[in-house]
Amino acid sequence: MPYFINILYAIFNDMITIISATNRSGSLTAKVAGLYSELLSQINVENQIMDLCDLPADFMFSNFYGSSTQPFVDIVDRYINNADKFIVISPEYHGSYPGIFKALIDCVGGENIKTKKVTLVGVSTGRAGNLRGMEHLTALFHHLRAEVFSSKPKLSEIHKLFNEAGEIDDSDTLKLIQNHLKNFIAF
Ligand SMILES: Cc1cc2nc3c(=O)[nH]c(=O)nc-3n(C[C@H](O)[C@H](O)[C@H](O)COP(=O)(O)O)c2cc1C
Repeated sequence: MPYFINILYAIFNDMITIISATNRSGSLTAKVAGLYSELLSQINVENQIMDLCDLPADFMFSNFYGSSTQPFVDIVDRYINNADKFIVISPEYHGSYPGIFKALIDCVGGENIKTKKVTLVGVSTGRAGNLRGMEHLTALFHHLRAEVFSSKPKLSEIHKLFNEAGEIDDSDTLKLIQNHLKNFIAF
């Protein structure tokens, strides 16, 4: 499909779920997710943030292998099943993505993820920008037969990108994110 038709299609049809892949309260990942959402809304692309802080505390045990609870089912319906595309923003925890994200996938299963389009963004205070975690996530999503976008921004030394108001105002990073979004919308 031509590039501009892809963009129009996304603007009028696609629902993008932005997943903040940690349950750490006050995480910088959640702030990056907020920025992605704001930038998508500015160009009228429908989006919603799934913050793993909002998962039921016992979801891993009450929604695993045959058991389920209505609050978790509703969350999965809204943020996973009804989404066309995913932006997974993942912090680096011990050289990979957070365990809670893998637990979520193990509870959800791959049926409503396969063939959907996914892009990954790495966040870390270290210099790697979760490079390895994004490789691990790429392997996970490919195992689930999702399509992973090749451009994967790495937001390293993330704490240095925030101003005193707690916003990312670094012009190079903003340009990188805007460009990433433009290309992912057309993907
Ligand atoms: C459990 C845990 C493990 C972490 N491991 C790493 C790491 O391996 N490499 C790194 O650069 N930062 C690591 N960090 C720091 C995060 O990169 C930092 O907290 C950053 O702000 C992104 O995480 P956040 O979204 O939780 O804020 C770790 C943080 C936590 C809470």
